[in-house]
Amino acid sequence: MANIFRTKSIDQLIRESTGEGEGKASLKKALGSFELTMLGVGAVIGTGIFVLTGVAAAKYSGPALVISFIISGLACIFAGLCYAEFAAMVPVAGSAYTYGYAALGEIWAWIIGWDLILEYTVANAAVAIGWSGYIVSLLNSAGIHLPAFLINAPGVQGGMINLPAILIVFLISWLLILGVKESARLNNIIVGIKIAVVLLFILIGVFHINPANWQPFMPYGWSGVFQGAAIIFFAYIGFDAVSTAAEEVKNPQKDLPRGIIGSLVICTALYIIVSAILTGMVPYLKFMDTSAPVAYALAQVGINWGSALVSVGAVSGITSVLLVMLFGQTRVFFAMSRDGLLPKVFGEVHPVRGTPGKSTILVGIVTAILAGFTPISAVAELTNIGTLAAFVIVSAAVIFLRVKRPELKRPFKVPGVPITPLLSILFCSYLILVLPRVTHIRFIVWLALGFVVYFIYGYWHSTMNRPQKAS
Ligand code: ALA
Repeated sequence: MANIFRTKSIDQLIRESTGEGEGKASLKKALGSFELTMLGVGAVIGTGIFVLTGVAAAKYSGPALVISFIISGLACIFAGLCYAEFAAMVPVAGSAYTYGYAALGEIWAWIIGWDLILEYTVANAAVAIGWSGYIVSLLNSAGIHLPAFLINAPGVQGGMINLPAILIVFLISWLLILGVKESARLNNIIVGIKIAVVLLFILIGVFHINPANWQPFMPYGWSGVFQGAAIIFFAYIGFDAVSTAAEEVKNPQKDLPRGIIGSLVICTALYIIVSAILTGMVPYLKFMDTSAPVAYALAQVGINWGSALVSVGAVSGITSVLLVMLFGQTRVFFAMSRDGLLPKVFGEVHPVRGTPGKSTILVGIVTAILAGFTPISAVAELTNIGTLAAFVIVSAAVIFLRVKRPELKRPFKVPGVPITPLLSILFCSYLILVLPRVTHIRFIVWLALGFVVYFIYGYWHSTMNRPQKAS
């Protein structure tokens, strides 16, 4: 079984991605660094800042929410630099999964891929449920009241099915099937609205800060601040989705690092400012009562029109998160299927549209079922642990490959190796540790299931079992 550690050479990965010689499907190259940065911001700013900040402030961080955002932001920037090195070196769909294949071997690639499936599916379901909550409250304020059984999962406040969550997943899947360029254009518009709304909040909020609200600054101590960081880490998830678009990028060596780092820097800056203002506007304990803290804070200081605008922006913002995350998931599947680790259907590309339609439909159905019938609490926590684990492996892989293959051409190099990747490993591992125990257990169960699937299917169907052509 030694060949569970078989690696794919970078040349081979790139050759396969272009379909060279094999007549295989390849994706359309339509994205530049601007679109990528927008894709990143589109995936990042959403449920985390618009929904989870309230819980994190009230239960864990208090006004020190801003410190939690800085801690999580640092973890992501260190990890983001590592992603950028790989993304420029191996510009192939599949992101961390593909990097694992090149650096560490098939079994590690499988673990990361399996982990990313969890991350994206669970995150998409959680985000769709968050979207549903916002749209329902917007409809309520317009006097339209949907029956409870249609807007909640079974077991949640008289619910039977979360219909809005299901509908939004299907709508976004349909857009993705239409084509990447069209989706990217819509994404740019939505991201513009989202950033405008966040800036509006900052501009209004800054004049309504009462410094007394920042006292006590750390009501739950440092342990609360770190737990808060582990929760709001969700707000940063998504920049890694930029790297899943690698094969649709015109000039990946330059554009990918720019897209990843650009979107991270924009989001980190906005988050730090928003969280400082938010906790300055309203006493942190009040956030216990709301699932729409940003809109709530404006309503609390009497700016109702601002509150309504923020809600509209949040709905569209969360929509673009779904767009990018669903997109990312199908690309991970695409890469895993091309390598034979998952069935072929996940790798089929529509001959005219150039998008993986069947895989998008399958992903859409599974996500819609989860979103329609699961309470948000059951799905949200798992997302962070899956992502953090992938970050740890990617960062370790950067160091490993620098030692093992120093001669490889690296169009973008992480500065300060090994310190930067080690800091990423340290920050991300610590955030994993402070997550709830039940999340650790669920994650281990998911990984164990992954090993079963790998040894029953992936190991035997891997394209690595076929004789390799000489490069
Ligand atoms: N970062 C994304 C969000 O906050 C997943 O919705």
